[in-house]
Amino acid sequence: MPHAGASHNAVTVLPGVHWVGALDPDLRSFDIILRTANGTSYNAYAVRGSQGVAVIDTVKEMYAGTFFRRLESVARYEEITTIVLNHLEPDHSGALPELMERAPKAKLYVSPQARNMMKGLFDTGPVEHRIIPVNTGDRISLGDRSLRFFNTPYLHWPDTQCTFLEQDGVLFSGDFLGCHFCDARLFNDAVGDFRFSFDYYYSHIMRPFRDHVRHALDLIQPLPISLVAPAHGPILRESPLDYVQRYRTLSASNLHGAESKTLLVFYISSYGSTRRMAEFVAAGAEQVDGVRVSLYDIEGSETAPFVDLIEEADGLVFGSPTINGDAVKPVWDMLSSLTLVNVKGKLGAAFGSYGWSGEAVPMVEDRLRRLKLRVPVAGVRARLIPTPEELAQCRELGRQSALHLVGKADARVIDMAALG
Ligand code: FEO
Repeated sequence: MPHAGASHNAVTVLPGVHWVGALDPDLRSFDIILRTANGTSYNAYAVRGSQGVAVIDTVKEMYAGTFFRRLESVARYEEITTIVLNHLEPDHSGALPELMERAPKAKLYVSPQARNMMKGLFDTGPVEHRIIPVNTGDRISLGDRSLRFFNTPYLHWPDTQCTFLEQDGVLFSGDFLGCHFCDARLFNDAVGDFRFSFDYYYSHIMRPFRDHVRHALDLIQPLPISLVAPAHGPILRESPLDYVQRYRTLSASNLHGAESKTLLVFYISSYGSTRRMAEFVAAGAEQVDGVRVSLYDIEGSETAPFVDLIEEADGLVFGSPTINGDAVKPVWDMLSSLTLVNVKGKLGAAFGSYGWSGEAVPMVEDRLRRLKLRVPVAGVRARLIPTPEELAQCRELGRQSALHLVGKADARVIDMAALG
């Protein structure tokens, strides 16, 4: 197997287009939340035009030496007129300050959002005048080759952009369409099967920004793409549009033709009290036309299968008993899974029984608010066994929540806690 990691030469992608990145085969977790089975790569590229060389992205700082050696094997620093940074995160910007020093003629092209964020990452003072913000449709010329920019924010930071090498149909896509998969053979038609890694990366990095993924796909799909060069993982030269289409599928709505609003009621119960409350919440919601209500006991379930449902749902209601002054772990696990999808603006609510304190309901409500759900209906707590009045409150919690979903809520309930 050719081992790019063992040599310090650049790897030819196309004539005049080289991979000058670094392999990190020993990495096992990335950004704390992502696991990698065999490491990752930090892909950077050099593009030679008749009037200059462009460098697209750099690498994590600890791999700067490898990056510069590879770059030096295909270009001299005085030839570099253009540096493009598609994404500021340190795994791509780690060698940027030194590259700016080594290539003093180069201008740096970034998104307007990146322009604003850069100061937070390194001292831009000495190179301020060389940083040029670019937006969708802007082009720069390398002579016989040109780069065109596409502003594609939130893939997965606000600053992200894609860059298209027009004459060759190469899309430098940043994290978008990438994955954490390390294989020195570099190209998708040569490396091992990485489909699991591609989907895993989407679901953990891109999925919370599904609307932005669709926006980016709309921007790039009209392009005559012949190769996708992402910032991590294999370079997609065989059937690159299959991967674009895979993102289209992964970011599509899972519900087909759903006209009604959906409300999910999750609960867990020690002695049946919270379960009884959940049943009344669900029954109250079912009174409202146009709302489809689902009731789930999370005690017997893994969290992962619910993520698709949560992503599509309009409202989420959580029932938890209070044990030792806290909501119970399966409920926190479920709440933690909400970060995998975009829940901003969904309706949230909470209820639960308790023995002597009852912190679970306000804690869950607080968590929902911090995740940017709206919590327009006050939660219901019941001490030990819920009374008929408390069950009626649960029914009303469900009904009011459902009415909010269909835009027919009763007189507005002022959520004092949310005002604070
Ligand atoms: Fe690969 Fe978001 O950095």
